[in-house]
This record gives sequence, C-alpha cells and structure tokens, in this order.
Amino acid sequence: MTLSQEFKPIGQDHASLLSFLEEARAQEPVFFWEEQGIWVVTNYDDVDTVMTDAAHFTAEGNLGVMNEGYCEEARQILSKGIDWINVPQINDTEGKTHTRLRTVMQEILSPKRVREMQPKIERNVTALIDQFVDKKHCEFVDEFSYPLPVQVIFDLIGFESTDHDLKKLQLWSDDMFRLWLTPLTKQEQITCAQHAVQFQTYIRELLEERRRAPQNDLLTDFARELAGENARVSEDEVILMFPMNIIGAGHETTKAALTNALYHMLRKPERWQAIVDDPSTIPNAVEETLRFDGSVFAWYRTVRDGVALGGKELKPGDKVMAVLGSANHDETKFNEPGDFCPMRPKRPKQMTFSTGRHFCLGAPLARLELQIALEELSQRLPGLRLKKEQPIPYMESVATRVITELHLEWD
Ligand code: HEM
Repeated sequence: MTLSQEFKPIGQDHASLLSFLEEARAQEPVFFWEEQGIWVVTNYDDVDTVMTDAAHFTAEGNLGVMNEGYCEEARQILSKGIDWINVPQINDTEGKTHTRLRTVMQEILSPKRVREMQPKIERNVTALIDQFVDKKHCEFVDEFSYPLPVQVIFDLIGFESTDHDLKKLQLWSDDMFRLWLTPLTKQEQITCAQHAVQFQTYIRELLEERRRAPQNDLLTDFARELAGENARVSEDEVILMFPMNIIGAGHETTKAALTNALYHMLRKPERWQAIVDDPSTIPNAVEETLRFDGSVFAWYRTVRDGVALGGKELKPGDKVMAVLGSANHDETKFNEPGDFCPMRPKRPKQMTFSTGRHFCLGAPLARLELQIALEELSQRLPGLRLKKEQPIPYMESVATRVITELHLEWD
C-alpha cells in the first residue's frame, strides 16, 4: 500500500498515527494524499519552509471560499450583515493587508494584557474546580476545558457575565464559525445566518457603547483604534475578528490543548506526581504536552509559485497540509521524540502554534491558561487519575486533535 492509501488520520489512535508519520518522514516526507487532493508535508524542515517561505506558499484562501451554496433564505439573512466574503481576515491574507491586521491585533493582544489576565484566569480556574471538587469525579471537557477558555476570552473581550448572556454569545459565535467551516443542512444554515448577523449587530453596538464609556478591555482598545484619525482597520474587519480570530481561534484550540494535557499527564501517574511534588516543572510539562500531542495537528497553505519540496514538484494552486504534529516528532530535531519527557535537554521550537509571519497570536495566553490550570489542579487534586477503562473519543477532524470526553476521579 502507498502512504496515500495508508493515511487515515481521522479516528486513528495516537501511537499508530505517530508510527505512520515516522515511516513517512523516513520514506517519502512529502506525499500526495489522493483522497483529499492535497500534499502532506511531514518533516520539521519542510514544515518550517511551508510556513515561512512566503514567496512560494500563501495562507490566502485558507478558510476556503465562503460557502457559495447557502440557500436563498440564508443568503437573504446574511445580506443584512457584513459581506464577509470580501472583508479581509488575518488568517487568510498576506502581504500588506496581513501586516496591517496583525499589527493591530498584536498591539491589542499585548504581553501586558496577557499578564493582566492572570488573576482573572486564576479566579476562573478556582471557581470551576470548586464546582466539582466534592463530587470526587468529573467529566473534564464539560466541566473544565470547555468553559475555561470561553470565560477567559470573554473576560479579555469585556463580556461580563453580569451584563451579558454568555451562553447566547457563545452560541452566536460558534454558529458564525460553523457557517464558515462546516457543511450544514438548510435549516442549520438559516439558524446560523440569523445568529451570525445578530452577533455582528451586537458587537457593533458594544463598540459604540465603549466609545462613549471606555473600560479596560479589548472592545475598548478596538473602539479607540476605530475612533483614531488614522484608524488602520475598518469597523467590519474588527467585528469579524471577534468570532473568527479571537473566540473561534482561541476556544476550541485551547479547550483541546487542556484536555490533551490532562490526558497525557495522567496516563502515567508518575507524570502527575512529578508536578504535584515540584510545581516549578509545570512550564516544561506544558511545553511537552503541546509538543507531544498538540491540539492543532496540521495547518494549510496553497502553493503560490511552483516549487520543489521533499523531492516533489509542487505546482501553483496545489493545496498543502503541513503536519505540525509530525514536525514535533521529527527525530532529527527531538531526541527520542516518542518519549514524553518534560525535562528534555534539547528543546527546539515546537510547531504547535506554527511559525513565521502567521505564528499564533494567542500562544502566550494559551500557555498561561495551561500553566495555571495544571498548577491549581495538581495542588488541589494531587490524587487525580483517569477513570479506568474509558474509551477516549476524538472529534472527527484532520487538522485538530480534540478529545470529546474525559472522565477523571480522585479520592
Ligand atoms: C493551544 C491553543 C492554540 C493553538 C494550538 C493555536 C494554534 C494556531 C495555529 C496552528 C495557527 C495558524 C498559524 C498559521 O497559519 O501559520 C494559529 C493562528 C492564530 N491564532 Fe492560535 N492557537 C491557540 C490559541 C489561540 C488563542 C487563545 C488565540 C486568541 C485569543 C489565538 C489566536 C490566533 C490568531 C489571531 C491567529 C492568526 C494569526 C495570523 O494569521 O497571523 N490562538 N493558531
């Protein structure tokens, strides 16, 4: 069988996936995956080239052409909102437009703002643990890893639970994201279109409110930027950033990273014991969980100019899938990559957050959330363990590794 025929990333267990990728890196590090019509790039240096070589690889079109096949009712509803097909988004633009959007987002998601988030994240983590600590068991996704990043992002944006219906906002934002990326039935298209437009109107009104009454939050920063004489972004661009580049980009990814981290830390009790005994090792444990089984397994580019990669000729317009999760296990960069080893002496940059001009803008925030979560959980629940004999179900996805249910218990 060829690598293309053998490659079945959906539903494959982690160990078999890693062993397939090891074989691919050794035999044919760039191969064409017939089923999806896309080049699969597996070794570290080639993944690095795909993500950093802007002359040959572009992120333009990354999110796909917006679904042209919406039903008439959904189109009617969407026409009342932002023409999002033509409004540029940070993750599928390049050149000056990308730099312009990224500069603004970078200033607003600044290290200072991330530092300021620390006490709020700690409060959120404590409150979530308080809710299940006496039960002696929990379903981690539902009770911790789903709600935490939503709360953190809503705090960052400035949605206070006292003033806003957070569940409704989450639903509206999720539905806008689904409209973009998921095949939907006609009825779903209509509902999602309604929610997308409601969400846009809501953000527009809040930006206006913050213009009148500033606070210390993202909405206020964006309102200030828009009100400036030389505003670098348009109001429509800002409105789309909230569901797509802040909530969408930061929620599912961090949720999955938290669940993966807990799963791998608890698979071997001595890993958990090590952070219970010495919390100063937690930052290294976080890095190792991100490297070992990152939540974004692969990311996409399109070939701009014909180029040779891994002995293959890639043509303009070809789609490329850079397997970040394989680069993170490349034996030429990481000693014994299959070992989970938080204290590994040689630690090259891992690829979970990508690299280059599109490097994830939320990486510092995600790392901080993971760190605080592991600190609090290990100190308050030193005896935490996986419930025995549970299946570990994953979402059906090629690009991400998302555990959908994880049962934990303690005495
Ligand atoms: C563990 C959690 C996370 C992972 C694994 C992750 C991973 C990624 C990856 C792989 C990319 C694609 C980069 C590329 O195209 O080369 C990306 C982009 C991005 N991420 Fe994250 N992300 C995480 C959390 C977050 C959070 C919390 C936020 C925001 C609050 C965020 C905001 C963004 C933005 C705005 C981009 C687009 C950057 C650009 O195109 O210039 N991410 N992320």
